[in-house]
Amino acid sequence: MPWVVRDTVDENNRAVGRRWQGLDRLLPPRAELPEGCAAPFVATGGNGRPAGLAACCHEHVKSGTLNQTWGTADRFSLVVRLREADTAAALDDLMGQWRDHLAGLPGTGADDTAAMITWPARDVSGVTTLLRHGLQPITVIAVRPARPGTAAPQPGGDAGPRPAGGESLVIREAGPADLDVVTEFEMGVIRYDALFGAAILRPVTEELVRAEIQAALAVRPARAWLAERDGEPVGLVHVQPPEESRWITGMSRSGVTVYLQTMFVRPGDRGGGVGEALVRHLHAVLDARGVDTTLLHFAQLNPLSAPFWSRMGYRPLWTGWEVRPAASLR
Ligand SMILES: CC(C)(COP(=O)(O)OP(=O)(O)OC[C@H]1O[C@@H](n2cnc3c(N)ncnc32)[C@H](O)[C@@H]1OP(=O)(O)O)[C@@H](O)C(=O)NCCC(=O)NCCS
Repeated sequence: MPWVVRDTVDENNRAVGRRWQGLDRLLPPRAELPEGCAAPFVATGGNGRPAGLAACCHEHVKSGTLNQTWGTADRFSLVVRLREADTAAALDDLMGQWRDHLAGLPGTGADDTAAMITWPARDVSGVTTLLRHGLQPITVIAVRPARPGTAAPQPGGDAGPRPAGGESLVIREAGPADLDVVTEFEMGVIRYDALFGAAILRPVTEELVRAEIQAALAVRPARAWLAERDGEPVGLVHVQPPEESRWITGMSRSGVTVYLQTMFVRPGDRGGGVGEALVRHLHAVLDARGVDTTLLHFAQLNPLSAPFWSRMGYRPLWTGWEVRPAASLR
């Protein structure tokens, strides 16, 4: 990128960071514009200064990787950095340039492709423009800032406060002997998320999930907990530690951040407080471990997620918008 353009990018990033802080304190303090596949798209501003910039990033996700379960094989993402409060006109301008760019690329009409934008959930000024260009809201990144002062759980499987879980419910760390049931519960979430377009089941998904879980269950401190009723597992919560959550921590404020990767309660055991007991237990553990921020994804159309996570102290931070195939962007 020539130095003049880099100056423009840096200045725009600072302005966008300031605007984000005004919109939502849990967004990152500084916006970054990554290197795209070509020079950034520029949105023309009213006073001769760009109203914003955007970079198109191409990602080919190899088959045989778990990442292919979380989206299409080829992903064309527009990273948008707009500095004015009303984003509608500038976003429309950038999306028009992006649409023409994607239309000229080979392969963007193939089934396993998507055009994607991750947009700040509280930046409502852009929503109608995203819809008009054919994008759909598929996923939500939700955030929970830690509540200081929560007591640590007692050793020996104490579940902490259990307002609805009942006396017979025990929460305990999952270990290597739980591989089968943890894999079954992880696959339960993936199958459920696939109903809403937030996951894509691949022939190798289960095998890859099993291998990932085998490794995760072997390490300490624990990162997965099971809820058991009468000795039988009925629910699971699984979190990635800070060092493995770095792929997403840049989406929020700085501090110790973890990613909650799985929350699942067996269908026949839902609505009885198992999920709440698991999450309360997890929050007590995370608070004791000094975690400042917890992030998670849920499918926008999952009817169980939004009310559950809201009650548990989470709220939308970003929305993942997509259209498949990529060339069907309007
Ligand atoms: C989301 C999920 C984990 C919640 O688990 P759960 O054990 O049903 O959660 P809870 O029972 O604590 O709370 C769920 C609902 O039951 C209600 N509930 C809680 N205790 C209850 C009780 N004793 N009797 C009846 N209802 C009760 C809650 O009010 C809550 O309702 P609301 O969310 O509409 O306000 C579970 O539905 C699930 O596994 N869904 C499929 C996978 C999934 O969506 N995972 C999350 C992906 S991000």
